[in-house]
Amino acid sequence: MDLFTSAYSLVRTQAPTSPVTCLRPHAAMRASRYFRRNFPGEILYAVKSNPRFEILDAVHSAGIDHFDVASIAEIRLVADRFPGALLSYMHSIKSREAIREAYFSYGVRHFALDSHDELEKISAATDGARDLTLLIRLAVPNIHAEMDLSAKFGIAPLDAAPLLVQARAVAAKVGICFHVGSQCMNPAAFGVALERVGDVIRASGVMLDIVDVGGGFPSLYPDMTPPPLDTYMSEIATALGRIPIGEGCEIWAEPGRALVAEAGSTLVRVDHRRGDHLYINDGTYGSLFDAGVPGFVFPVRAIRLQGRPSRRLLPFSFYGPTCDGLDYMKGPFLLPADMGEGDYIEVGQTGAYGSTMRTQFNGFYSDETAILSDPPLLSLYRGRNRAPQLGGVHHYDKSGTDQ
Ligand SMILES: Cc1ncc(COP(=O)(O)O)c(C=O)c1O
Repeated sequence: MDLFTSAYSLVRTQAPTSPVTCLRPHAAMRASRYFRRNFPGEILYAVKSNPRFEILDAVHSAGIDHFDVASIAEIRLVADRFPGALLSYMHSIKSREAIREAYFSYGVRHFALDSHDELEKISAATDGARDLTLLIRLAVPNIHAEMDLSAKFGIAPLDAAPLLVQARAVAAKVGICFHVGSQCMNPAAFGVALERVGDVIRASGVMLDIVDVGGGFPSLYPDMTPPPLDTYMSEIATALGRIPIGEGCEIWAEPGRALVAEAGSTLVRVDHRRGDHLYINDGTYGSLFDAGVPGFVFPVRAIRLQGRPSRRLLPFSFYGPTCDGLDYMKGPFLLPADMGEGDYIEVGQTGAYGSTMRTQFNGFYSDETAILSDPPLLSLYRGRNRAPQLGGVHHYDKSGTDQ
């Protein structure tokens, strides 16, 4: 794969006509190292957020050898790539075939569940195995998150206690896991969730082997500056101190977004301008799903090879290339006022839930990828949360100077 010093140098050398997925593995390594150093426990990488080998390798080389996998395809992928890695099947609803293959063909022993039906399913599909680690997924409030997962997954605390007792009877180890929702903007959400874990422990009388605080750690976007990650770490450490767990209880986290969002960006080209709408060659059916209905505002930077972009910035919206009106990204994306056909835009923070969401709808699909060695457009790990200004990102001029 080609390596470039920046998106500008990629445009200058290749003038790509299709969208390019740009990867910054060094950013994933930096984030992974931060989590390993500062989280009070073990880190599992949530593979769904970005399963590309370059990213998996970066996370793995930073010392993360335990993966949160949510499908049999993810299990096959990670097991082939890292034969010695530990895999935890954290999707709480699985098919019997997938459980069976995970257990018998890939040695997976850790399974999440949030119902008695799933417990029966796991037991039956593993032929009554007695070497399982079962993690009960608890429903917790997702009110501080951009992406709410609480309606779809999790068991209410009152019902969790009897399920935990039942799991304890058949498993080698038991734990509780939860997810505060993706892009959680308030560390207190972890404290509230851990209080619920404490309630379940007290109600069930079961000593836990594992408490898994899930994902949900935020990344940085032009309109969303979360509190420093350190405050999430200290909130978790403090809340853990208040719940009845023993010394030997393992603490896990399964971050996705916070590890890899800034390790990816998408290079697009403008095909047309209509007022303050730019028609670009990637969209919500491609790598920019989160800019559509979920409404994420990604950082952007204009790249123009011929001439200098205007210094005046305007708020733009984007339309993607497909024929669907839903292929719309409201933004606002602050870009030079004279943006037009042929200009390029580097859309940042698409490393998590970006290229992995691409479809082939309408025939628009690009597999072009490049590695970039420069810093990401925004970073949580540089100068610890220096607050970004909306649109206060750089534009390249003709000489490639970052302005
Ligand atoms: C079970 C589980 N763990 C971890 C994650 C990763 O979450 P995030 O990317 O918000 O850190 C998800 C995301 O959906 C999830 O469902």
